[in-house]
Parts: sequence; C-alpha cells; structure tokens
Amino acid sequence: MPDVREAAKLLENAARVVVFTGAGISAESGVPTFRDALTGLWERFDAQSLATPQAFRDDPELVWGWYEWRRHKVSSVHPNPGHLAVATIEARVPAATLITQNVDDLHERAGSPDPVHLHGSLFAPRCADCGKPAGPPAAPADEPGEGRRIRPPSCSRCGGLIRPGVVWFGESLPEAALEAAARAASGADVLLTIGTSGLVYPAAEIPRLAARAGAAVIQINPQPTPMDSVALVNLRGSAARILPDLVALTWPDA
Ligand code: OAD
Repeated sequence: MPDVREAAKLLENAARVVVFTGAGISAESGVPTFRDALTGLWERFDAQSLATPQAFRDDPELVWGWYEWRRHKVSSVHPNPGHLAVATIEARVPAATLITQNVDDLHERAGSPDPVHLHGSLFAPRCADCGKPAGPPAAPADEPGEGRRIRPPSCSRCGGLIRPGVVWFGESLPEAALEAAARAASGADVLLTIGTSGLVYPAAEIPRLAARAGAAVIQINPQPTPMDSVALVNLRGSAARILPDLVALTWPDA
C-alpha cells in the first residue's frame, strides 16, 4: 500500500481538494459504466439513437423510455463505500468541491452536500421547448425495460415534451457547473480523479487544468487511462476498495 500512503500524505496536507468522479465510482453499486468491455452502456446501446438531441426529435418515446429505465435502475441501488468515503473527504478537508460526470444521485444519497453535475442529472427533467424544469419525476412505477417506449410527459407551461435533464452528445455543458468546476480545479492543492476513462471533453480537461495549476493529481481506476500521465499517484484498483483505505490512512479516527 505504499502508493495509498503517499496519496494519504498529500490529502492530509491539502487545504483545497477537488474530487472528480465518473461512472466507475457507481459501478460497484450496480450502475453500468459507459465504455467498459461487455457491460458498458455504449458497448450495448447506440449513443446516436439515444443520447443526442436528434434522437429525441426522431423518437422521443424510445429516448424517454431508455432514460426511465436508467432512472429506475439507479433508484433501486445504493451508494457504495466509495461514495461514502468521498462524503467523508468532503467533511474532513477545509475546502472541498465534488465534481461528477455522473447523472445518478448516489453522491447525494451518500451525504455529499452539493455535487457539481457536469453532465446533468436523471432527476432534473425539463421542457425540451421552453426549458421549464419539470419538477422531480414520480418514482418509476415498474421496471420499464431496456427497449420499452414511454411517452414523455408534457410541459405544464407550453405543452412541449419533457426531456431528460442530461447533457447529450453535441450539447454544451451547463455553464454554471463548468465554471464552478474550472474555478475549483484551478485553485486545488489536490485533485482526486476517480472512475473515469478521461475520454470525454470538456470534462476530461478538469484534472489537466488542476495539474497545470500545480495541484497534485491522484487517480483511482482499475485500468490505465490517458490520465495516468497527468497523475502524480496512480492507485490501480476499485473505488469502493481503495477510497475507504485512503480515508482510514489519512484520518485514522474517521
Ligand atoms: P466510462 O465508462 O468512459 O469510464 C469508466 C471508467 O471507470 C473506466 O476507466 C473504468 O476502468 C473505470 N472503472 C470501472 N469500474 C471501476 C471501479 N469499480 N472503481 C473505479 N473505477 C472503475 O465513464 P466516464 O468516464 O464517466 O456522458 O464517461 C464520461 C462520460 O461519457 C459520461 O458522463 C457520459 C458518457 O458518454 C454523458 O452522458 C454526457
């Protein structure tokens, strides 16, 4: 565990910490990642016909049904020790910012007070026409199934179709979230990048920005990624296993 010790030392001495997460942190809760072989969503489903504005225009029932299936899946699982350890890190360091690419709510349910959702949320639908938030969706009544079409609800203001509140391919990231993320990354002493392939931009720029500004980057991932060369410490393994060890070494009383 020498590398975890090195990471713990960095964390212990850091005043400003950014935690940057991707699908890998939710993998051990049972939420599929996007690009892992066999189980990744983009290995099994066609992103162009499910996760683009054009896809929603062409077949809103297919797209809404698919996101309802994902929302149902996420609602039926629980935060894992990795999410809980992130919440502990946030509570322990003087200033912490959690930036996630995930559209699930597992960080919130683990006790993270205010994650920055760079890619939106499955729980924040809005009108595709006028943008009015649609309010929290009702709990999914039953398992919609991977390919089931469901008619999206209509907007109470303009009658337009309600769309998932996630960022699709070809869309810009929410401006306020991106600004908050860039600000936190450029002022960080330590940035932890956890469970992300580091392939999707502009999100993948965040750890690079932190490194350029002088932060020590610590990566947790079972696989090599393009972030290996950016990270000062590479912890090869699962988030649910390594993060609790890291917290226990940094704050033995946690
Ligand atoms: P990816 O599926 O691209 O990458 C998941 C990463 O998690 C991989 O590097 C895995 O090796 C790693 N991983 C798998 N299991 C893990 C575990 N137990 N612990 C730690 N790491 C593990 O997911 P993201 O990088 O999050 O965008 O993908 C980025 C964006 O691409 C997503 O936000 C989504 C997708 O298209 C939108 O939907 C806009």
